[in-house]
Amino acid sequence: MNKWNKLDKKNMVKLLLSEDKTVLTELQQAAYKVKNREVGNKVFYRGIIEFSNICSKNCYYCGIRKGNQQVKRFRMQPQEILECAEFAWKQNYGSLVLQSGERTDSEFVDFVEDILLRIKKMSNNELGITLSLGEQSEETYRRWFQAGAHRYLLRIETSNSQLYRTLHPQDHDFDYRFECLKILAKLGYQVGTGVMIGLPGQTAEMLADDIIFFQENDIDMIGMGPYIPHKQTPLASQAKNWNKQKQLQLGLKMIALARLYLQDVNIAATTALQALHPEGREFGLQAGANVIMPNITHTKYRDSYKLYDGKPCTNENARMCRVCLEGRIGKIGEEIGYNMWGDSPHFKKKQKQERKDA
Ligand code: 5AD
Ligand code: SF4
Ligand code: FES
Repeated sequence: MNKWNKLDKKNMVKLLLSEDKTVLTELQQAAYKVKNREVGNKVFYRGIIEFSNICSKNCYYCGIRKGNQQVKRFRMQPQEILECAEFAWKQNYGSLVLQSGERTDSEFVDFVEDILLRIKKMSNNELGITLSLGEQSEETYRRWFQAGAHRYLLRIETSNSQLYRTLHPQDHDFDYRFECLKILAKLGYQVGTGVMIGLPGQTAEMLADDIIFFQENDIDMIGMGPYIPHKQTPLASQAKNWNKQKQLQLGLKMIALARLYLQDVNIAATTALQALHPEGREFGLQAGANVIMPNITHTKYRDSYKLYDGKPCTNENARMCRVCLEGRIGKIGEEIGYNMWGDSPHFKKKQKQERKDA
């Protein structure tokens, strides 16, 4: 037992506010140890395909919100998505993430179902698939699960419903978003959620509550990253005190605290960290994260999928990102879990328990 095992809201808040370099180094080292003990020292890859920036929503922070008329909208053709998936498979990436703007129309639902079936077939069922396609009906989630997706990422963005309201138009429904997380778990998905860190109006208390929210809702995977303003969005004007270095530090603290508090979940070192510092994702791994999402989207579309300013890798291609990341991860002494799904140990334990109880 040591002091890091006894985290509660009060000391999480204290750490989130602390600027003491020694304490923060200790915090990250403690989180790194827990990561190695609970989930191993392998970094799991999820090659991410951002296949369309068409979105029916209007989140105040996001660069591809419906209201941003300066964005050139695209959707990748099924054949192009399959090519990216095949690249991931041939490079021994164990899993994919399919992400796009949010759409709930039947054409979109059918499209995703079809592409899931085709990717599964192409890869002899070997590629694991995570979806990150927003709020959907239970029926849609069920169809996609049956077509082969087994993990779903839906960030709650903030667990504070009041703050949520300031970040979204009136018709964006916090309660239904929360409900979606429950539906996904019920259907058998491994469920990932997360928040943006360092939002205008967000306090250290709210961030500590976010971590407690993850535990209370038995979340299997965490994908969270610093908020980064996008000039063409309404929220950017409220981010006057925004500071790169501070956002990076806060993002790393949240990863370390989540690792210490939740222990056996998968935690991603997200691309937003790299937008703040060239080695941001490596810092994330060293602070307790164990998942990385190499971008495998065709280069020609990358520039149009900018959720925030300064997104890295937009001029690179999948092969360049592969080599780049391999070097970066090797340099910090971590190993890549090629050919593995790298499922959340937290989820696996739950499943085992359920089998015992049955
Ligand atoms: N800064 C950081 N993250 C953002 N996202 C959207 N816009 C931004 C931004 N400006 C995140 C949201 C969303 C995910 C797909 O991208 O958390 O859930
Ligand atoms: Fe659409 Fe997601 Fe951006 Fe909101 S955050 S506008 S749902 S892509
Ligand atoms: Fe894309 Fe480094 S990860 S260029």
